[in-house]
Amino acid sequence: MAAEEGQWVLMATGRSPTNIAVIKYWGKRDEALILPVNDSISVTLDPDHLSATTTVAVSPSFPSDRMWLNGQEISLSGGRFQSCLREIRKRAQDVEDEKGIRIKKEDWEKLHVHIASYNNFPTAAGLASSAAGFACLVFTLGKLMNVKEDYGELSSIARQGSGSACRSIYGGFVKWCMGKNDDGSDSIAVQLADETHWNDLVIIIAVVSSKQKETSSTSGMRDSVETSPLLQYRAQTVVPNRVLKMEEAIKSHNFESFAKLTCADSNQFHAVCLDTSPPIFYMNDTSHRIISLVEKWNHSEGTPQVAYTFDAGPNAVLIAPNRKNAALLLKKLLYCFPPQDNDLSSYMVGDKSILSDAGVKSIEDVEALPAPAEMKTPSQQFKGDVSYFICSRLGAGPKVVTDESLALIDSFTGLPK
Ligand code: DP6
Repeated sequence: MAAEEGQWVLMATGRSPTNIAVIKYWGKRDEALILPVNDSISVTLDPDHLSATTTVAVSPSFPSDRMWLNGQEISLSGGRFQSCLREIRKRAQDVEDEKGIRIKKEDWEKLHVHIASYNNFPTAAGLASSAAGFACLVFTLGKLMNVKEDYGELSSIARQGSGSACRSIYGGFVKWCMGKNDDGSDSIAVQLADETHWNDLVIIIAVVSSKQKETSSTSGMRDSVETSPLLQYRAQTVVPNRVLKMEEAIKSHNFESFAKLTCADSNQFHAVCLDTSPPIFYMNDTSHRIISLVEKWNHSEGTPQVAYTFDAGPNAVLIAPNRKNAALLLKKLLYCFPPQDNDLSSYMVGDKSILSDAGVKSIEDVEALPAPAEMKTPSQQFKGDVSYFICSRLGAGPKVVTDESLALIDSFTGLPK
């Protein structure tokens, strides 16, 4: 190692997307290794809109491993961080960089790392930040330590940080195969199709206002495994069949089947939550109103116009087959949930151009929107019940960030910038 030759800091930066499951993971058969009770399928979202960026640095001058998340130092003592660090370190290889820094394989065990990570979306919004975060941590550490393992193996390490993180190792459509082995070696993610396969899909997320502190996924699913009889039936009987149908729907761009499966699976996941003792309520009245709006629209057209899915919180993730339907959906949503402070530009983030597709350029345009035909009481509007919308699309998997000015750690001090 070049440690004797002076103080140096070697760094790598990566960016990883978040993902949203269309066939949900809910329930573990092994808590420590994070092995699920069923397969799951997700779509990876565009990292420009929802992603984690992580810089990892190594230096002989670091006395311990440290991490900062969104600028705040956080503890790395948790088992999940420790598993990811241990598994990546085990696979570290010799490194020699262009500045002449050399690290031998066996030296990685003695060196400490500094990790700085930040999300380009509010952590408080409850949008699966742990999936992007752990995928990014594992991917970027792998780059720094010259880990040669394939993405399947990286996904099984990310899985030990947070189950859903294993699916953020790839772009496009991803399946997490539950696996059979007790050691988790076959519980890995595979890519079903990349982000170009079905690139007409448009994703609109309604970030729903909520004051309630939600039950974490980890403890919620533990309670479900212990108490819900429906969870067993779902994992053993329903999901295996649904996964096959979903794979087929994705392969053949069959939106009708994709949407029906996505909505049914979200609803069954929330039914399992309700079947848990004590029951867990992740959706709120706003979530229910959005479901009802979409269901009525889909029913009135006779075929699904848009799909919805909800994770462990009240936010709605709506998937439209194309921009036309996304724009129609947005008009209905903006009618029901006008912006609280009349500021349209901060009410739509991500791909704001969807507003022009919907013909809505100003708050006056929002006020002039007609009530959705399918609403029973058209006068009902719920200003303030949605905090904001994000318009996104399918996106690619983790990438190395080569522009050094985007690194989150100062290469001189080894501390967050
Ligand atoms: C509802 O991956 O957050 O989003 O493995 O305990 O970290 P842990 O749980 P996590 O659970 C995600 C649950 C879900 C469904 C899904 O993403 O498949």
